[in-house]
Amino acid sequence: MEASACADEYEHSIPNVMYVVNNIPGPGIDLDDFESVYSLGCLCVDTCSNCSCTRGSPNYVDDRILDEKLGEPIIECNCCCTCGVNCGNRVIQKGPLDCLVVSKVGEKGLGLLTTKFIQKGQFICEYAGEVIGIEEARYRVEANKNDTNYVLVVSEHVGNRTIITCIDPKYFGNIGRYSNHSCEPNANLVPIRVEGVVPRLCLFASRGIDIGEEITFNYAGGVANSVHELSDTPCLCGSSNCVGYLPHNSI
Ligand SMILES: C[S@@+](CC[C@H](N)C(=O)[O-])C[C@H]1O[C@@H](n2cnc3c(N)ncnc32)[C@H](O)[C@@H]1O
Ligand SMILES: [Zn+2]
Ligand SMILES: [Zn+2]
Ligand SMILES: [Zn+2]
Repeated sequence: MEASACADEYEHSIPNVMYVVNNIPGPGIDLDDFESVYSLGCLCVDTCSNCSCTRGSPNYVDDRILDEKLGEPIIECNCCCTCGVNCGNRVIQKGPLDCLVVSKVGEKGLGLLTTKFIQKGQFICEYAGEVIGIEEARYRVEANKNDTNYVLVVSEHVGNRTIITCIDPKYFGNIGRYSNHSCEPNANLVPIRVEGVVPRLCLFASRGIDIGEEITFNYAGGVANSVHELSDTPCLCGSSNCVGYLPHNSI
């Protein structure tokens, strides 16, 4: 099981939602897969910029993700590594930013806003919830047609393999469950692995985000996401290049 060193100040309870700091296994997920860990770590002494974990070049500089690493598999140093907790390849495990607030954002319902300026590349928070199988994801998307859908499906293309991860934070979720879609977003969704083989879906600022701004990502974008078609839910992102409808989970 992934060790959680992260500080998350956002725990709260609301009816029908259980706050979880990290992903939890849901229906359609093999517990062995969920709990399996990398057995290999790097052998670095202090900092890690060019090692087996960073795969030749740093993932982060000053805790900010580098553009050229978006789209590549990212692995953070973990309990199997000999480097210390201050190694620069340990960012998401420090937990979410401490400046996030949930607020009503018009017809979109609730949204995620920041009370501090966020620099480009900074880790914001995870989109964590129940990790579910594809069949269960299909079922939940269909069952929630007339209700708010939280299921997010991400496809990673690694070599000749496609790894599909479905996360549903509707009933068990973290602060990231409040992040809305935009056709002109200010955050990227990046799958990152720490100890576990299941990726953590992480939001990083794609540009500087001002105080009071809503944090959004493209539900169809990010890293080789599998959602391309449009759903029949109107998009209210308000951007000049809005495509009119939310992306459809093509699973
Ligand atoms: C992950 S939740 C985001 C939080 C949600 N707004 C809430 O109140 O809990 C995703 C849902 O928010 C709504 N949503 C997100 N982005 C939207 C947008 N650009 N336009 C309209 N609705 C949006 C849709 O109902 C979508 O299924
Ligand atoms: Zn390291
Ligand atoms: Zn390492
Ligand atoms: Zn839009």
